[in-house]
Amino acid sequence: MFCRVRSMGLSGIEAFPVMVEVDISRGVPEFTLIGLPDAAVRESRDRVRSAIHNAGLHFPVSRILVNLAPADIRKTRPVYDLPILMAILLATGQVEFPQQQYAFVGEISLSGECLPIGGVLPMAMLAKEMGCTTLFVPAGNAQEAAVVEGIRVVPVSSLAALVEQLSGTQPLPVAVPTPFEQVDASYPVDFSEVKGQRFAKRAIEIAAAGGHNLLMIGPPGSGKSMLAKRIPTILPEMTFSEAIETTKIHSVAGMLPHGGSLIRQRPFRAPHHTISPAGLTGGGSIPHPGELSLAHHGVLFLDEFPEFSRQAMEVLRQPLEDGTVTISRAAGRYTYPCSVMLVAAMNPCPCGYYGHPTRKCICQPSAVSRYLAKVSGPMLDRLDLHVEIMPVEFEQLAGEEQAESSAAIRERVNRARQLQYGRLQAMGVEHPVCNARLSPRQTQQLCSLTEPARQLLKSVFDRMGMSARGYDRILKIARTIADLEQSETIDTAHISQAIQYRSLDRKYWERG
Ligand SMILES: Nc1ncnc2c1ncn2[C@@H]1O[C@H](COP(=O)(O)OP(=O)(O)OP(=O)(O)O)[C@@H](O)[C@H]1O
Ligand SMILES: [Mg+2]
Repeated sequence: MFCRVRSMGLSGIEAFPVMVEVDISRGVPEFTLIGLPDAAVRESRDRVRSAIHNAGLHFPVSRILVNLAPADIRKTRPVYDLPILMAILLATGQVEFPQQQYAFVGEISLSGECLPIGGVLPMAMLAKEMGCTTLFVPAGNAQEAAVVEGIRVVPVSSLAALVEQLSGTQPLPVAVPTPFEQVDASYPVDFSEVKGQRFAKRAIEIAAAGGHNLLMIGPPGSGKSMLAKRIPTILPEMTFSEAIETTKIHSVAGMLPHGGSLIRQRPFRAPHHTISPAGLTGGGSIPHPGELSLAHHGVLFLDEFPEFSRQAMEVLRQPLEDGTVTISRAAGRYTYPCSVMLVAAMNPCPCGYYGHPTRKCICQPSAVSRYLAKVSGPMLDRLDLHVEIMPVEFEQLAGEEQAESSAAIRERVNRARQLQYGRLQAMGVEHPVCNARLSPRQTQQLCSLTEPARQLLKSVFDRMGMSARGYDRILKIARTIADLEQSETIDTAHISQAIQYRSLDRKYWERG
């Protein structure tokens, strides 16, 4: 007896079709699994055997050969338990279903329970592309799969329940997707709690609106970490396609909560400075997404920036520029997206008080230089906006004045972001990006300056010895500043503000 059941595997964040073939023949009872399975997949044999027994079904006493086709792609995750089971039950006449239309993925426990797996969202997208009408997934993953329109998603809680459903007369239970509406998230923190710091808040607003990288530098206790923690409260709403992309990565990393659906809030990842380079970019023999990719379409916050290892900083450089990170392994290359807004915070020197208005720095000048040099020139160049965070004065701190709330800032950020997306959509771009991610050609098209603004930029460019990248970034920041004012043209005021946010390196890194 021979039969086939459709399933899927994962490579990076993309799914690929797998056909589970089962051949049951007479002979010495044995159970063989081929098709390049790794150890976790090979152990499927024992799980399948026990699950069938424990669900009160019949396990054939015959020669069973299971092949996971195509045989040249390594199968790495224990997602084939369910399709293997179904193929055996189908071949032995214990269940019946339309093989071409149904697809299965899921891990099974010894007791026959169906356990959640990673990567269900990309699998569901592929199942639909493959023309399947129905996808059976672990109940814990059903909400995630139901996001994909045009395919029925059946939640499977246990093998016994599934067999009963397939042989019964009742229609199969189908997961209903939760509608994609913007959640009005409430946060335990708010920008209104931060007194003063107008300049810094403005920089954060610009960064959030255009997706620009940001560096905050200042003495201890001046509020850098406090400001950074409040960034999620003003990030722009996610579009549906952004939410899908971010969810795919978290799904593959197995980080979606049980029963979770689409991620609707931009991620904010704040790894500790002891993180390894592989922890940032992704790693392991079958590479998992790293912090960079987990922050896709959101914020990667690196507090105490100079404390990160040299290698950790170096591996960030290319992905920050490209928006993707590629990991090479013997088995192939894996590419994960990582379009992130990097926010870095640091003290200006080991004691922390270099440049402080009232306290004296006790560091040797060479120690200050060494400390600052940990942030290399190329890295500094990638940090679009630089702000100095100086301690607020007593009057401000103790004052009654109520600062602006996150909700008010967020509204401006949202409007500015919509303007950016609308502009690209009008040009026929299918997946619009924020200003920080504009291609060189788009930058040229969309960031045209008035003549006085051009003159101003030219004079500053010559005077500051700006790099081509610096020039490009100033244009984009000025675009965002104009967007926040709902202005289509970029004028001198926008350019001069943008320049202000890129001149801090002169005070610290280029001390004469
Ligand atoms: N502008 C402010 N308004 C209100 N409280 C503030 C402000 N700035 C700092 N604080 C208070 O000071 C505390 C310390 O600030 P924070 O931890 O953000 O400093 P930091 O700049 O990150 O310092 P370090 O360099 O030591 O990490 C905050 O938790 C907050 O209670
Ligand atoms: Mg801090």
